[in-house]
Amino acid sequence: MSDTSRRDFLKTSSIAAVGAAALHSLSAGAYAAGEDTVRIGLVGCGGRGTGACSQALKSPGRVRLIAMGDVFRDQMDGSLNNIEKAVAKDDTAEITVAEESKFIGFDAYKKVIDSGVDVVILATPPGFRPMMLEYAVEKGVNVFMEKPVATDAPGVRRVLEAARKAKEKGLKIGVGLQRHHQAPYQDMVGRIHSGEFGDVRALRVYWNSGGVWDPRKNRDEVKSEMEYQLRNWYYYTWLCGDHICEQHIHNLDVGNWVMSKNGELQFPVKANGMGGREVRKDKKYGEIFDHHAVEYTYADGTTMMSQCRHIRNVWNSVTEHVHTTKGIVHLSDRSSNGIRGGGGFGIKYFDGTEDVYKGDSRDPYQVEHDDLFTAIRNGNAYSEAEYGAMSTMTAILGRMCTYSGQEITMQDALERGLGIMPEDLSWDAKLPNAPDADGVYAVPVPGVTKVLADA
Ligand SMILES: NC(=O)c1ccc[n+]([C@@H]2O[C@H](COP(=O)([O-])OP(=O)(O)OC[C@H]3O[C@@H](n4cnc5c(N)ncnc54)[C@H](O)[C@@H]3O)[C@@H](O)[C@H]2O)c1
Repeated sequence: MSDTSRRDFLKTSSIAAVGAAALHSLSAGAYAAGEDTVRIGLVGCGGRGTGACSQALKSPGRVRLIAMGDVFRDQMDGSLNNIEKAVAKDDTAEITVAEESKFIGFDAYKKVIDSGVDVVILATPPGFRPMMLEYAVEKGVNVFMEKPVATDAPGVRRVLEAARKAKEKGLKIGVGLQRHHQAPYQDMVGRIHSGEFGDVRALRVYWNSGGVWDPRKNRDEVKSEMEYQLRNWYYYTWLCGDHICEQHIHNLDVGNWVMSKNGELQFPVKANGMGGREVRKDKKYGEIFDHHAVEYTYADGTTMMSQCRHIRNVWNSVTEHVHTTKGIVHLSDRSSNGIRGGGGFGIKYFDGTEDVYKGDSRDPYQVEHDDLFTAIRNGNAYSEAEYGAMSTMTAILGRMCTYSGQEITMQDALERGLGIMPEDLSWDAKLPNAPDADGVYAVPVPGVTKVLADA
């Protein structure tokens, strides 16, 4: 089959709809037996891109990596090496990335998407995601994209629009909010939705941790301000969204999931908060805050208290807690400060008894790819882009509140939130957030910093 007809086939075929006889004529029976190859490309060859690509290759059926893109060659070489090792024992994983299919530069994503891939994995820093998603959808390519899916409100609007177009075209989009594919979350959130624990009264969500990697390159090791910020992307808001967006999105997203019932997506209608830089103040830490505390309100008045902190030697927790009329449901991915055992998943009733989750512990990073690729092979509708976009926007709303010190509604944030992406994406771009002559970046100041366009 030609590239286009293969893609169309993967897009539109479903075993039920096509029927066994027709399926045989299309793929000589091989597709139904899981032998039909899905071709993938990777954009953003860092830690998660490498992991996501390996997991995609290990998903059921034959998957072949045919193209890769990054802005830095060293990143790509390391990634390819690690992917090869990760899938070495998997008979249905193939890697055929020819030298001419390794693309370097700001337009590498276009070249990967144009390489005849059925699925592109987008795992660059999140600021680039809307532009890359738009292009993939325009070209009729399915997408797995990491969270967050944008770093500003205009970016979220672009993602929502691309998601709408993707649906029209029958394209599948997976988003790396893997808790949705993690059995204990599915079980406990399902039980909350069923009403088993009574009504939800409030939520608490945390990503308090020691932070991520320290800046990777010094100024004297890079050729430009753009390279400096890209190498150290976590510390620049247009690239990363600040850590409330980059990491805490997972916990905020669980809050939105708990509040979304009967298929109706819910997200906070307003928020207020405070934050700043208390410990991580050196200029090498760019412009982001090291702590944010936000109070979100949902349409029915339910409050979600949120904290995220990147400071060492303090109380840490990466957890979500749902207060209901019968007790407190603890959803704990990492640190278990909730209930006994079970990884921290379960409910502690007000009478002191506990019901601890003891079920499936499969790796959600693998399951999210298994689910997406199965939908692509079977032609089932699959879109995580809408909730991915609104959970990203929930985090951006929180950041807008902590940077400005104002209470802000979701509607204002989404409609009037200022864009922060630079117009020029090139190595010698004059970045709007460039530092002063001493290399010091401007840090947001509550009460002064403006985050909304005038009404
Ligand atoms: N779901 C999860 O639990 C999880 C975990 C880790 C990371 N992530 C997400 O994955 C994304 C990447 O994070 P990471 O830890 O892999 O970062 P990383 O720094 O290890 O990798 C990012 C890669 O993107 C490349 N890149 C930067 N700009 C690019 C551009 N314009 N075009 C092409 N390549 C570009 C970089 O050179 C680098 O190789 C982030 O959005 C992050 O939030 C998700």
